[in-house]
Amino acid sequence: MYEYYNEQLNLLEDNSHLRNIKDFSKKDEKYIYVNDKKLLNLSSNNYLGLADNEKITDKFLGTAGCKWSFGSASARLLTGTLPVYKGLEELISNLYETEAALIFNSGYHANVGINSTLAGKGDVIFSDKLNHASIIDGLQLAQGKFFRYPHNDMDALERLLVRERKNFNNAVIVSESVFSMDGDIADILQLIELKKKYNCLLVLDEAHAFGVFGTKGLGVCEKLNVIKDIDLIIGTFGKAIGSVGAFATGNKILIDYLINKARSFIFSTALPPINVAFTKWIIENELPLTYKKRMNMLELGKKFKSESHIIPVIIGENAKTIEMCDILYENGYFTLPIRPPTVPQGTSRIRISLTTEINEQDLVKLKELIRCNIIG
Ligand SMILES: Cc1ncc(COP(=O)(O)O)c(C=O)c1O
Repeated sequence: MYEYYNEQLNLLEDNSHLRNIKDFSKKDEKYIYVNDKKLLNLSSNNYLGLADNEKITDKFLGTAGCKWSFGSASARLLTGTLPVYKGLEELISNLYETEAALIFNSGYHANVGINSTLAGKGDVIFSDKLNHASIIDGLQLAQGKFFRYPHNDMDALERLLVRERKNFNNAVIVSESVFSMDGDIADILQLIELKKKYNCLLVLDEAHAFGVFGTKGLGVCEKLNVIKDIDLIIGTFGKAIGSVGAFATGNKILIDYLINKARSFIFSTALPPINVAFTKWIIENELPLTYKKRMNMLELGKKFKSESHIIPVIIGENAKTIEMCDILYENGYFTLPIRPPTVPQGTSRIRISLTTEINEQDLVKLKELIRCNIIG
């Protein structure tokens, strides 16, 4: 009965595709420990060093917010809403100066819910080809049709809009801002132009930019001063903020529509109240203190020719990528091989994510190892 599945696993292993869950002894805001080996953690989304941080945890545990419970026992629309949820939603909409905000259990829940809901029968979504799996899964669940345009290619998107927009009722354009596996940034100004010209909604996933870009840490939209031009902005709490969950913020009618229609919101138990309280506390108290460190991190990214704090080292073949990770591991760096289907075939890579804890000195040997083993 299990033979088929076992064969599939063997096939994955033969192609250096097999994934497994790693065992770590412990983590802190900078390092990861495997037994007694201490490795610089270059694979985490803990961009501000707020997760796995004892000092931060202790500080939070000394606040009144730590009295919230560890389980909500209900979906938000049943008995799963306490004042702390509304408090976080209000905080988000006040920061962004938007009409409304809605918390989702994760970025995955948010993207699946939003993308499957906004395009009903007769509607259409245009999605960047490198958008995250959670967006793609949402598109596949949608009743509407979707088209994927070549990555960040605004001319190709416009050609698609010219050809297809007239055939549908509602239309949505969806993109990440900072692309998770490439670290480059969408042409948001052009997306706004196109959305206006072709009468579309624009949904922007700022998962990797929320907490990192902008004076207040609200993302690339804040930096570009275009928050008002985006219909829905999505941010996650599990990355820079060091907590769990996600939000969508923007137009109130769209938020109310999601509350009524997004199945990943309606049919899932709400986040533990204590996590919601932690998220709110971090955004109010810790995020404002990070500005200088965030800007230094982005400067370091520039030195590695990245537009952000995410640096892709594209190797190509799976086996070679794994080999490179092993070399880095032996030299005290923890990186992971990123392979298809996470990235397109033939572009397996090491994704280095910087954090505010990492400095240029930490990366000197890494640069040399990559140069010797990949470039020449
Ligand atoms: C662009 C993007 N959106 C959404 C998600 C999902 O967020 P979460 O981990 O909160 O489910 C990720 C996760 O890596 C992501 O990279």
